[in-house]
Amino acid sequence: MIFRDDLLKDKVILITGGGTGLGLAMAKTFGELGARLAIVGRRQAVLDEAKRSFDASGIPLWSQSLDIRHPERVDEMMDALLSHYGRLDVLVNNAAGNFISPTERLSPRAVDAVLNIVLHGTFYCTLAAGKRWIDRGEPGTVLNITTSYAWTGSGYVVPSAAAKAGVLALTRSLAVEWAPHRIRQVAIAPGPFPTEGAWSRLFPTTELADLALSRVPSRRVGRPEELTTLAAYLVSDAADYINGEVITIDGGEWLNGAGMFNMLSRVTEADWERIRQLVPKKA
Ligand code: HXC
Ligand code: NAP
Repeated sequence: MIFRDDLLKDKVILITGGGTGLGLAMAKTFGELGARLAIVGRRQAVLDEAKRSFDASGIPLWSQSLDIRHPERVDEMMDALLSHYGRLDVLVNNAAGNFISPTERLSPRAVDAVLNIVLHGTFYCTLAAGKRWIDRGEPGTVLNITTSYAWTGSGYVVPSAAAKAGVLALTRSLAVEWAPHRIRQVAIAPGPFPTEGAWSRLFPTTELADLALSRVPSRRVGRPEELTTLAAYLVSDAADYINGEVITIDGGEWLNGAGMFNMLSRVTEADWERIRQLVPKKA
């Protein structure tokens, strides 16, 4: 750990989808840095398992089963959380839904399933936290987990791309509107980080996983601790002047698709010699 172990001391941090994958990894890092945690997700068994593991490490963890697509349930959860801890310092909007599919094969229910989790659920949680922070005159931080295709778009995950683009707009809009209330917005845009939830839905074969890896200039996937270290800094008081910013952590993956000549990474040393002879030296 590169931080002092009291970096997040006593901060109350709510992580949606905190029982699995990157959400759980963030919860562990924040807990090791002194935070008091709350996690929500739909599956009670997943939350129970996380609770057992945090109890064993002596890290305070409150959890509640919640589907963030239901705004009334989100409000009830927020009240229960506030009565448990007395306050909330940080909301991490991490819960998401996604799968690969040609867009023309999607049913309206499939579109709604993703948009309602990623865009609406994130909005409901942000509203529930923000209204209470403003009413109580308390500061707060929202960390949104988006993706690197939030601004480029991406075929085959179009509901996710549209929803994450909306979350990015939410981040930048509220960064301005709520700053006078001392409520800060930040976002992380991860590239590929192998988690069971993402890999089972997005890269269900090794061929697809290898294809994804080949797009990353660093030729490796992300390590959870690289993302959780960034997240810990962003939600800490040290980052208090960072507002409305999205930080990409993807080994250069999205830029690889953007630069016209990036495909030249496939050219061999021998080919480069040949190409050098072919290109005219003088006009
Ligand atoms: C086409 C699909 C589908 C698929 C579901 N549907 N999966 N359509 N291809 N693979 C359709 C169903 O047929 C149904 O439509 C509608 O979607 C709703 O399906 P349900 O199973 O009832 O939905 P629900 O139980 O609400 O589950 C939501 C979900 C599921 C999004 C579909 O995958 C889920 O719970 N995901 C949560 C975890 C997750 O996705 N993690 C990955 C995050 S990774 P019909 O019309 O038939 O009723 C990420 C970024 C990764 O976000 C970037 C990587 C680099
Ligand atoms: P994950 O383990 O599948 O995480 C998704 C979490 O969201 C699960 O804990 C899930 O729990 C919860 N969730 C889903 N729908 C919910 C709902 N309606 N209400 C409440 N909770 C819900 O996948 P992950 O890879 O860790 O993803 C975490 C975040 O990183 C997501 O925002 C994702 O878009 C982002 N991301 C991941 C990658 C990657 O490569 N892994 C890349 C870019 C962005 P339940 O199913 O129990 O509800």
